[in-house]
This record gives sequence, structure tokens and C-alpha cells, in this order.
Amino acid sequence: MAAESHNWILMATARTPTNIAVIKYWGKRDENLILPINDSISITLDPDHLSATTTVAVSPSFEKDRMWLNGKEIPLSGGRYQNCLRELRSRAGDFEDEKRGIQIKKEGWNKLHFHIASYNNFPTAAGLASSAAGFACLVFSLAKLMNVKEELGQLSAIARQGSGSACRSLYGGFVKWTMGNEMSGRDSKAVQLANETHWEDLIIIVAVVSSRQKETSSTSGMRESVETSSLIQHRAKVVVPSRILQMEEAIRNRNFSSFARLTCADSNQFHAVCLDTSPPIFYMNDTSHRIINLVERWNRHEETLQVAYTFDAGPNAVLIAPNRKVASSLLQRLLFYFPPGPDYELNSYVLGDKTILQEAG
Ligand code: DP6
Repeated sequence: MAAESHNWILMATARTPTNIAVIKYWGKRDENLILPINDSISITLDPDHLSATTTVAVSPSFEKDRMWLNGKEIPLSGGRYQNCLRELRSRAGDFEDEKRGIQIKKEGWNKLHFHIASYNNFPTAAGLASSAAGFACLVFSLAKLMNVKEELGQLSAIARQGSGSACRSLYGGFVKWTMGNEMSGRDSKAVQLANETHWEDLIIIVAVVSSRQKETSSTSGMRESVETSSLIQHRAKVVVPSRILQMEEAIRNRNFSSFARLTCADSNQFHAVCLDTSPPIFYMNDTSHRIINLVERWNRHEETLQVAYTFDAGPNAVLIAPNRKVASSLLQRLLFYFPPGPDYELNSYVLGDKTILQEAG
């Protein structure tokens, strides 16, 4: 590094949306590299609604790496952050700004520290804060800052080491995380199945059932499942491989009925694995179960499936409708069955037109 003074600062900013898995990732074969036991498929949401915006800055005057989330300083998530940084540093390029007299050689990045400020554009209290958008955005903005010239797929393999689901947020539209089989994890990365314009009619509604922090994190939950559930092996080896093929076909053909059937079945099997874990993990609550019933009863009365539901490691429902007409009917039903009241919390966010239907009291 041959900078004249220590006063300079370089910055880069990126925005990355979160993603919702329709075929779930649950279980690792390598905890450190974050290598999964099965492929997964997700939809990347519209960045206007659920995304992280991250600014990374580097300066010789910074004495250590620091991070702020929504304006509040947080400890840097230990090993995972360091793993991402190590991967990026090993691929960093030279940087030169003649006017400002800044020159950073590849190796120079090893001696510099970063300040990272990240904001989520969704209410943190909504309980939807996800590490997926956060790590994807962190890796993307650091790669920009450090002049890393890698294709998006390789960046996704780096983001994976921050949080598995983060690798899928590097692409828009429909994304598959291929589990890969190399020990190094190089081939465990995201690929785009179809871009965001492929199936534009789909509307995603997140019903925020509870904003409380989950008791069992995804990371420890899936570890316990791998250690104690026998169903998880059957799921990973037998069920998911064929479901992935069927889901790819449903997405390719925009076949909503098939897409909805697979999405609901996979969410239910993921939660069945959680119940098959010892001690059992309960992510859904009574309100989640009532939402499933509502959708199932509605779907049974129609010739083709109307709505898909999926639940991650928490009670909030992600509901997917094939078009606006069905979405508005779904919202009416939600309001009818879950009117504002003291018995439960339910906010429904319509993703697509920014409507916040109902605020929890
Ligand atoms: C239920 O990606 O949060 O949302 O890799 O340990 O950070 P780590 O776990 P994480 O797990 C997400 C699990 C899930 C399903 C999914 O997104 O595929």
C-alpha cells in the first residue's frame, strides 16, 4: 500500500433482497463450509420490500472491523464473517486512484479493516430479519470494494459461507442452490433457473404471525435434526431430489397447481422433520396451523390450487397467489378469519404494491 496519508476512505454500497425457499434447505454435511445435504429452490423477493442495503468502507485509519445493523453496533458474526472475508481477500484485485494518491495492492487488503453499515427496509420487529439478505449484500458490496473479479456463482459460494440461504439471494427470480459434491465447496453455489420477469403474475404475501425472536435458530435447529431425525435422511436422499426436478418443471411451465402442491408439501415435510427431531422443534404456532387450514380448505373446493403456503423456521406464513385477483381474495379471507384483535398478532404485508394491510396492535 502506498497511500500518502491515512485520511482516505473508500466505500461501496449494494442492495440485496431476501429469498423464500419453496424447496427447503435443512441440514448440513459440513458445518464450517456450510455445505447442505440437499439442493433447494427459492424465489428472490422484490428489493423494494424486503432487502438489506449495506455500505462497506475501508480506510487505513480504521483499527478494527466493525459493523452496525440499523444504526446499532453489533458484534461481527465470528467465524462466518471471517470465512467470507478470507475468501474475498484471496481474490481481491489491485486498486488505484491516482488523483487521490491511493494505491492498494492485492496483498494490501490483508492489512486493512472494514466498517460495515447495513439497513433492512422491513421492520426488524416483524420477525422477518433474515441472514440471507444480510450476508448476500455484505459479500457483494465487499467484492465490489475489493475489486474481486468473480462471476456471481462464485460470489454465491462465498456468501454461502456466511449463511447457507444467503447464496440464493445473489440472483433475482427463481434460484436453485446446488448442493455440489466437491470437498472444497466450490460447486455448492446458486444458479438462476429463471429471471424475475419469467412469472410476473405471482404475488407473495407475508402474514406476520409473530414478531418474537425464534427460540431455536435455523443453524442449531438443523444441526439437531441431522443428529437425531431419521426422517431427514429419507427427505434428503429420496424425496427432495425428485421434488427438485418436478419444481424446476413447474417453474419452467408456470404451472401454478404443481408449484403450489410441491411448495406446501415441502414446507410440511420440513416441519415434520422438525417434529421428528429430539427434542422436537415447534416453529409454527396455532395461528400458522389455522392459516394452513384456511388455504387447504379453499384449495380443496377449487379445480386448480389457488394459493401456496410455506413456513420457514418461525410461525410467519408466506403465501403465494397466482395473480392479483386471487391475492385480493386471499387478503379478504385473512381479514375475515383473523380480524384485528387481542388474541394473536397478524400483520399482512402485500409484496408487490407496498400495502401494509394490518398492523399488529
Ligand atoms: C428454514 O440459511 O438461516 O429458511 O446456513 O445455518 O445460516 P445457516 O442457516 P439459514 O437456514 C435457512 C433455513 C430455512 C430454509 C431455507 O431458506 O432454505
